[in-house]
Amino acid sequence: MTLPRRTVEFLDATLRQQCADAAPVARVAALLGELAQGRPVTDAALAELLAPIARDLARDPCLQLAWWFSCEPADFRALHALNACRLAMFLALADGKDAGQAAAEGACGLFYDIGLWLAPAREAVLSGAALDDAGHAAVQSHCVAGEALLRRLFPDELAARVALEHHERADGTGYPASRPRSQLHDLSLRMQIVDSLLGQIEPRPWRPRRNPVDAMGRLAMQGQRGLFDGPQLRQVLLLLGLYPVGSLVRLSSGEVALVTGVNAADLKRPGVRLLTDDTGEPRQKQVELRLADYPALHVADGI
Ligand SMILES: [Fe+2]
Ligand SMILES: [Fe+2]
Repeated sequence: MTLPRRTVEFLDATLRQQCADAAPVARVAALLGELAQGRPVTDAALAELLAPIARDLARDPCLQLAWWFSCEPADFRALHALNACRLAMFLALADGKDAGQAAAEGACGLFYDIGLWLAPAREAVLSGAALDDAGHAAVQSHCVAGEALLRRLFPDELAARVALEHHERADGTGYPASRPRSQLHDLSLRMQIVDSLLGQIEPRPWRPRRNPVDAMGRLAMQGQRGLFDGPQLRQVLLLLGLYPVGSLVRLSSGEVALVTGVNAADLKRPGVRLLTDDTGEPRQKQVELRLADYPALHVADGI
């Protein structure tokens, strides 16, 4: 859907911190760039990056999760890694895991695509063009290359496994080795879903983005066909919602709202924050409400 210009400007100003603030993206780019050049990540540098994410997620997940991207960076890799880290930590905490485990899973999110920072995958993704067969092969090399790099420089078994397995699929159709589901780590099965969701909703130079509501619907369909692990996909749906937390939606009233929470009793009626009135005019005061309390109101579509 097309939004009025003033609404876009308002959303840019309101949500920029979460989706494209230059500072955290630049920090991730620096960290991953150094790692790709052979410099190990220090515990302090990692903690410095993860601590504010954990703090925000505990306060208000939408401080970190907001799937609004009005700009299209030519190099998507750092924002992608940051988003995967945010989402991995959000899911871990929502799943009741402790802070240490959530940080470990956040690090897995941050690092699983490190192979995209290494040749030949790096050149293929940065070309910005649609890929031919050679380009696909170059990109597909990033799983094995990333695993090898992490085993050398970030000695964490789980992170290395997720890097290797995040493009495998539960039905054995993924890459690099088409491993069957029984050989894949549970966190890899979850990250396959996280990566596929982000791969659809983040901007890429070679294709239009899909809104998060449509992307989640597509994942659910692919899950029914066996592409993703059923229990993991169900859990992601329960924790993040059918309208993922951080999604912008248009309500049946015409108002634009940010999805702020999940209603496990009825995934179609989550908590939302009204950002605009029914003409797209920014609200002076943003209003929080639970759609479960307003039977006449529903989500019309994603933005
Ligand atoms: Fe990847
Ligand atoms: Fe990815």
